[in-house]
Amino acid sequence: MILITGGAGFIGGNFVHHWFERQQKSGLPPEQVVVFDKLTYAGNPQTISEHLQSGRATLVHADIADREAVRAALARYKPRAILHFAAESHVDRSIHGPGEFIHTNMVGTFSLLEEARAYWGAMNEADKAAFRFLHVSTDEVYGSLEADDAAFSETTPYAPNSPYSASKAGSDHLVRAYHHTYGLPTLTTNCSNNYGPYHFPEKLIPLMILNALEGKPLPVYGDGLNIRDWLYVRDHCEAICQVLEKGRTGETYNVGGINEIKNIDVVTTICRKLDELRPKADGSKYEAQITYVADRPGHDRRYAIDPRKIQREIGWSPAETFESGINKTIQWFLDNTEWVNAVRSGAYREWLDRNYAGRA
Ligand code: NAD
Ligand code: DAU
Repeated sequence: MILITGGAGFIGGNFVHHWFERQQKSGLPPEQVVVFDKLTYAGNPQTISEHLQSGRATLVHADIADREAVRAALARYKPRAILHFAAESHVDRSIHGPGEFIHTNMVGTFSLLEEARAYWGAMNEADKAAFRFLHVSTDEVYGSLEADDAAFSETTPYAPNSPYSASKAGSDHLVRAYHHTYGLPTLTTNCSNNYGPYHFPEKLIPLMILNALEGKPLPVYGDGLNIRDWLYVRDHCEAICQVLEKGRTGETYNVGGINEIKNIDVVTTICRKLDELRPKADGSKYEAQITYVADRPGHDRRYAIDPRKIQREIGWSPAETFESGINKTIQWFLDNTEWVNAVRSGAYREWLDRNYAGRA
């Protein structure tokens, strides 16, 4: 049994799918999953409904900052590992309201670590040695790169620039300290921008796909020349599986897609693919919907991951190119209108009004 915090979110939900598919493909014995999730606006049990219905996965609906709930889940399900995905994850939301980011990413991670430490401390020696606390973090903790800077490695100094990345940096430091001070067998992964199925449409790629299809403006921040290193979400999930199996405790592994792309190129790629797959009735091109809007305050210019450590020590490399991954992603959004419509509630529309109204 493994316990996954944030398993109803974008990456955690994909991880649940990946976990069971991987077991099936490799003939591994089935290992159940407990998803521990607060079900915020970004958490959606529909994402993992087939596994909840089959009984392979169980949902605990609770906050990671609720120590009694965490304690009860650990005592009841006795996981051999905790995979910690739960977070407030959207930079723009952290600019509008940092409080939830401190609560979940820092206080929540602290609560989880405290309960994990007590749970692990009471194990027998064999279970203790096998236990893992895997913390999923981000490349944003390293700050922003100039065009000719070397990519982020595991030894790049931390320099977070947004309330989101500062709260993730704080959580990384806590995880490091729990290993160093208490010996908790931790693993940390810092990955670049994920994309793929079930991506909440507040983030660049799903927002652009859905706005394009609805004939809405495609809001590009600033000059559109910011660079992100895009990682297909299933490649990330596989990296996490392999770090869990082979990672050295106390270590950090950077996970990147080796796909540095300017935002404007991401958006035009999506537009051109949609022109092919879903041409507009009036014959116009989706690119005509691109609208430059006011920049994100403190907008990091470039992220890039140096993935050599995970390649060398773990043997992981991404399988998808940006072209193959974006094609799968666009097709998924075209095919899954039921999921898409369900997540675009009134609260989602309120967020769009709040974030984009002042940028025109
Ligand atoms: P997401 O916002 O899609 O999902 C977050 C999940 O956590 C949701 O299911 C939500 O309900 C749950 N959650 C939030 N607060 C909680 C709380 N207090 N208690 C329990 N559950 C809570 O996020 P994501 O994009 O899937 O990101 C997952 C992790 O990966 C995060 O830690 C994020 O920082 C990290 N990360 C994401 C990316 C990316 O590109 N999306 C890149 C690097 C790192
Ligand atoms: O690098 C990893 C990080 O990637 C994760 O830690 C975060 O959880 C995840 O949200 C993501 O952060 P970004 O800020 O890079 O992702 P986002 O999709 O919000 O934005 C990607 C780029 O696109 C960024 O340069 C801002 C720009 N952008 C975004 C939106 C939502 C736009 O130009 N227009 C938009 O409407």
